[in-house]
Amino acid sequence: MYLVFFYLLVGTFFTVSQVSSAIITINFTTPAIFIFGDSTADVGTNSFLPKTKIRANFPYNGIDFPNSRPTGRFSNGFNSADYLSKLMGQKRSPQPYLFLLKAGLRKPMFRGVNFASGASGLLDVTGKHLNIVSMSEQIKQFKTVRGNLTLVKGKGATKNILATSVFAISVGSNDIFGYFENRSTVDPTIFIASLMTAYECHIESLYNLGARKFGIISVPPIGCCPSQRIFNVTGGCFEIENTFARAFHSSLDTLLKKLSCKLSGMKYSLGNSYEMTINVINFPQLFNFTYVDRACCGEGWLNAEKPCSPKANLCSSRNNYLFWDLFHPTQYASKLAAETLYNGGPQFVTPINFAQLAAY
Ligand SMILES: *[C@@H]1O[C@H](CO)[C@@H](O)[C@H](O)[C@H]1NC(C)=O
Ligand SMILES: *[C@@H]1O[C@H](CO)[C@@H](O)[C@H](O)[C@H]1NC(C)=O
Ligand SMILES: *[C@@H]1O[C@H](CO)[C@@H](O)[C@H](O)[C@H]1NC(C)=O
Ligand SMILES: *[C@@H]1O[C@H](CO)[C@@H](O)[C@H](O)[C@H]1NC(C)=O
Ligand SMILES: *[C@@H]1O[C@H](CO)[C@@H](O)[C@H](O)[C@H]1NC(C)=O
Repeated sequence: MYLVFFYLLVGTFFTVSQVSSAIITINFTTPAIFIFGDSTADVGTNSFLPKTKIRANFPYNGIDFPNSRPTGRFSNGFNSADYLSKLMGQKRSPQPYLFLLKAGLRKPMFRGVNFASGASGLLDVTGKHLNIVSMSEQIKQFKTVRGNLTLVKGKGATKNILATSVFAISVGSNDIFGYFENRSTVDPTIFIASLMTAYECHIESLYNLGARKFGIISVPPIGCCPSQRIFNVTGGCFEIENTFARAFHSSLDTLLKKLSCKLSGMKYSLGNSYEMTINVINFPQLFNFTYVDRACCGEGWLNAEKPCSPKANLCSSRNNYLFWDLFHPTQYASKLAAETLYNGGPQFVTPINFAQLAAY
């Protein structure tokens, strides 16, 4: 068995449903979007990090992106950060901070910035040895952007822009992978509590920098990723990790209720990635999926014994696969996930969905 919990990140969220009679907003202005987290939302950050191996800027990644271009996204095309941005009125996700920095942090930052970095987690130790950008570091980068915005727009206008912007965060899976990878003996309850302490700290930092609207995406059933299924002789999910994912969601639900009460003017939307994804795994035909256990791009059993690479096996009907590679959803799955976060009902996103959050 190679790949001893090869870290990265995961995400796969999904949907059944729809709807909530969408709020009709005449006069809807596109909010700026600031995106934080791991590879589920990374749109190329790690390609700018010379020291990390956790990257996706090579084929077959990007094979379904315009011009079949590998962009650093861990996907055959776009990811959920792109589809969410699209639903909120933009063409795709804002550019990575490290890309904008190279270009001199000019205008494009007004529509938002993407700070997400593959293999990062809530804890600073998560992914540290992989030389990625931790959540704490991502927030420092945001602080720089805020400083630059203030120079251009002034204090008052910056405050208004940030208060109406959406802050999307997708993180937590890598911390749980790290726990298992390190065979930690910390009590699970204490471990989840430590993740919540870190989350609270990150949300408060962003709030203190002017963020008010938080779109939070919790941890999917990570034990069902192809990379983890190969630890189960039946190819079934690695259940103990799913237990952690469920505990993470319910603790996060409690934390956000508490924080929104404490931080005046804070609004949030919490996407239940666990429910969305398990629903797809249990009822694949409802979503036109044929394969929900194996990777589209990879090698070996379940195409999950080696990562996606130019010499891996590539599936042909990518829209019938839930998983693109060992850890990540396909473009089609990411689109379903984003649509559910945006328009979904209370079984998938609470207390309001992302459309309501954006419009508020
Ligand atoms: C649209 O929004 C702007 C700024 O919030 C407001 O001044 C204007 O009256 C609104 N227009 C309509 C038609 O609601
Ligand atoms: C943005 O802020 C950083 C840190 O304060 C500064 O070094 C940089 O020059 C600023 N860039 C622009 C375009 O204002
Ligand atoms: C796992 O252990 C390694 C080696 O001791 C350490 O560098 C890393 O920070 C640990 N990871 C986590 C998530 O605790
Ligand atoms: C392996 O998968 C089966 C379902 O196929 C499940 O019942 C079992 O609990 C799983 N084992 C582990 C160790 O997660
Ligand atoms: C469902 O999958 C088939 C291929 O198996 C494809 O031809 C069809 O367009 C898909 N339908 C939708 C709604 O995506």
